[in-house]
Amino acid sequence: MSDYVRRFTLRQIIQHFCVMVLFILLALTGFPQKFSEGDWARWIIQTLGGIDQTRWLHRYSGILFAALVAVHIQSEIFRLVLRRASPAMVPTGKDFQDAVKMLRYYLGLSDEQARFGRYDYRQKFEYWGLVLGSVIMIATGFILYFPIAVTRFLPGELIPVAKIAHSNEGLLAFLVVITWHIFNAHLSPDSFPFDASIFTGKISREKMEKEHPLEYERMQELTRPAESSQDD
Ligand code: HEM
Repeated sequence: MSDYVRRFTLRQIIQHFCVMVLFILLALTGFPQKFSEGDWARWIIQTLGGIDQTRWLHRYSGILFAALVAVHIQSEIFRLVLRRASPAMVPTGKDFQDAVKMLRYYLGLSDEQARFGRYDYRQKFEYWGLVLGSVIMIATGFILYFPIAVTRFLPGELIPVAKIAHSNEGLLAFLVVITWHIFNAHLSPDSFPFDASIFTGKISREKMEKEHPLEYERMQELTRPAESSQDD
């Protein structure tokens, strides 16, 4: 029996890779505009070929990012409707109970840890934060991209509001990624120094059993009839 099991499909690996690259590009070309007084910001802008190139690079990356989010949302809806996917990312009552259970465990009030399925409550929280945050970034980004077209239909006050929302939500998203996401996915004691599963698609059997026991049991159930029919 292999020491590894499949956790992510090629489609998920590619989507994660694209969102990672585009997010880095957007941060690299967005923050030097926000903090343009800093020496580091000037250095990045000069290295990218000047402010015009930096702004265009940001906008092109933004268009690709918007396309990626649209493809992801559309394909997930189709897959759910066609029953090719289970709604594994949808929060349920169990997630709230798990969060309380884990809080009690971390505070030393209980010895019992929650048992997770395919995604735990932290992963679901982060996923939905990314989806909703992306919708805000895309909507405000396009308002800043086409301010004259937007103000033909909507009040002009929307432009400075969109700029503040885009700028601050971008900073919030960046801080969440470098603290919460990088810590949970790579730096926590269970994953340190690096969890490669989202790049290889595979996870060690031991880690899967420990971190997602309910999903592991479900996978065992699915493979059991095949194994037993081979034994016959
Ligand atoms: C998560 C991804 C993104 C991050 C972190 C980000 C970050 C930023 C930041 C920090 C600024 C500077 C705001 C300021 O001056 O205070 C900015 C400006 C801007 N962003 Fe984004 N952004 C993202 C996505 C997008 C998207 C999806 C679009 C859509 C095309 C977009 C279009 C723009 C535009 C048009 C500006 C104004 C600067 C210009 O005219 O080039 N951004 N962004």
